[in-house]
Amino acid sequence: MATDDRTTEIRTDTLGGWSRTHHCASLGPDQLGQEVCLMGWVQYRRDHGGLIFIDLRDRQGLTQVVFSPEVAPEAHGRAHVLRTEYVLAIKGVVRARPSDMVNPKLITGAIEVYVTQFKLLNTAKTPPFPIEDRVDVSENLRLKYRFLDLRRKAMADNLVLRNRVSQSVRRYLDELGFLEIETPVLTKSTPEGARDFLVPSRVNPGQFYALPQSPQLFKQLLMCGGLDRYYQIVKCFRDEDLRADRQPEFTQIDIEMSFVDEEQVMQMAEGMIARVMAEALGRQIPLPLPRMPYAQAMAEYGVDKPDTRFDLKLTDVTEIVRGSEFKLFATAALVKALSVPGGAELSRKEIDDYTDFVRIYGAQGLAWIKIKEDGWQSPIAKFLSEKEQTGLTRALGLAPGDIVFFQAGAPDMVNSALGNLRLRLGERFNLIPEGEFAPLWVTDFPLLEWNPDEKRWVAMHHPFTAPKDMQTLGSNPSHAAARAYDLVLNGTEVGGGSIRIHNPETQQQMFAALGIGQEEARAKFGFLLDALVYGAPPHGGIAFGLDRLVMLLTGAKSIRDVIAFPKTQKATCLMTEAPSEVEATQLRDLGLRLREKPKE
Ligand code: AMO
Repeated sequence: MATDDRTTEIRTDTLGGWSRTHHCASLGPDQLGQEVCLMGWVQYRRDHGGLIFIDLRDRQGLTQVVFSPEVAPEAHGRAHVLRTEYVLAIKGVVRARPSDMVNPKLITGAIEVYVTQFKLLNTAKTPPFPIEDRVDVSENLRLKYRFLDLRRKAMADNLVLRNRVSQSVRRYLDELGFLEIETPVLTKSTPEGARDFLVPSRVNPGQFYALPQSPQLFKQLLMCGGLDRYYQIVKCFRDEDLRADRQPEFTQIDIEMSFVDEEQVMQMAEGMIARVMAEALGRQIPLPLPRMPYAQAMAEYGVDKPDTRFDLKLTDVTEIVRGSEFKLFATAALVKALSVPGGAELSRKEIDDYTDFVRIYGAQGLAWIKIKEDGWQSPIAKFLSEKEQTGLTRALGLAPGDIVFFQAGAPDMVNSALGNLRLRLGERFNLIPEGEFAPLWVTDFPLLEWNPDEKRWVAMHHPFTAPKDMQTLGSNPSHAAARAYDLVLNGTEVGGGSIRIHNPETQQQMFAALGIGQEEARAKFGFLLDALVYGAPPHGGIAFGLDRLVMLLTGAKSIRDVIAFPKTQKATCLMTEAPSEVEATQLRDLGLRLREKPKE
């Protein structure tokens, strides 16, 4: 930090019994002539013809305070030392601003406070970035000085909205008879599909707790315990690769209900989202929310979390190009097309960038055709027969000025490459309407998915999700459907849940389908199996990602902007410098030794 002598040798005061009468966004013409006491930070200081003006800032906003040599010579004399971010308490009288000085952009823009006395509560070094809404500095610097970053109104507003959302959730669930119940943080692994964070036990050497990836099993056990309706706004921990909408520790609104089917859970959950939108944003969303089966989402949008704010759908053209001279198309398991009206304006450079982009999803390349007035312009057009061209024109409704992208190969790759390209194109062509919310349910998920690395079936949601029918699970696992539902908002999965298995035989069958033998099931989930044999009620639930929900409601680009103290993409906290090395004695107490010395 810059050498800074502005904090030295300045005497500071204590509060000395002063007490705040208003916050800095609450004064207006109604308070004219009143004596008030405000406390906050110096945002700006301006000296004008003997008067010193200071914008005093707190969480709510700004008030202009004036030091005048006529009104308060002693205070005015001392005000010259004040600098940005100094902490002040002022007493003064509210006056109307001269009419040419009224600032309509400021809530308190019609008034100013003439200081009679002030206390300097603290000095401040020059901050490493200005405390303003828009700052042009790296996110890393903001994260290192997060306590300063949080003073910026844009950041504070995000946390204010986050609070409004969680209070609204609590009111809604409380009214419906849900109990807020805490569950353990030091616990056993629950399989939500990510790696666990482990905590070594000192009193049980060689043994570890896992931090919960979610309270899944505990909430089911609460239902077995007869508590009927549970919720919790709870931290969950997942050691997974991070993205803009993922954090290693994040917050869920976790909910479970007894004696319900899908309908009751979904109705309760969409009622909650509607209530939150109304109370936090003043937005009404029509209920019931639209529903889309998983198969349709994959077919039309290529992803299981479709952004339905704009159209652009994928089209299966496998049959049209089945006999093509273009070998890649002729032999692929799936060929899909994505046509963009007016997209022929894309430059070669842009197309090359999109080609690089789809490689992230395992694509080898990206075929494209521009539809021009005088014919098709494309590296692959010459391989497509007239019949194929007519077939594509018809199926895709092609017109001059359009561009079509193709992807051919394994269905997972084709769908994720084109599905994600669709989102990029939606942005490029401004197809995504600002400020619109498009929530929907995705339903009818497959129960299992094949994990090619482990060469076994894994649960698509988690192993406690009830199958729609047991027979298919036994005879044709790839076709088994789950009683699961996800709530998707603007292309992000904000919530997911299911009806659970509540009978011990079905749970054992499910474990068997996942290749979890009886002994392993007993060792890992014996307590759940025990609970299921003592009269478990039918139950189901859902969990919402609170951070993601608030990110979408605020319009923030990253969930880090709605979390007070988030981690970086590398799972570090730049402010506290966690994670960090520990003392050798701490390791010894835990019975641990590091295999290699960590790199400097
Ligand atoms: P799931 O794993 O789908 O379900 O998680 C529920 C919701 O939590 C959010 N989420 C995350 N948010 C930020 N960072 C992460 N790393 C992260 N991972 C998940 C998502 C997601 O929709 N126990 C089940 C719920 C249930 O079946 O009731 C569960 O945890 O918004």
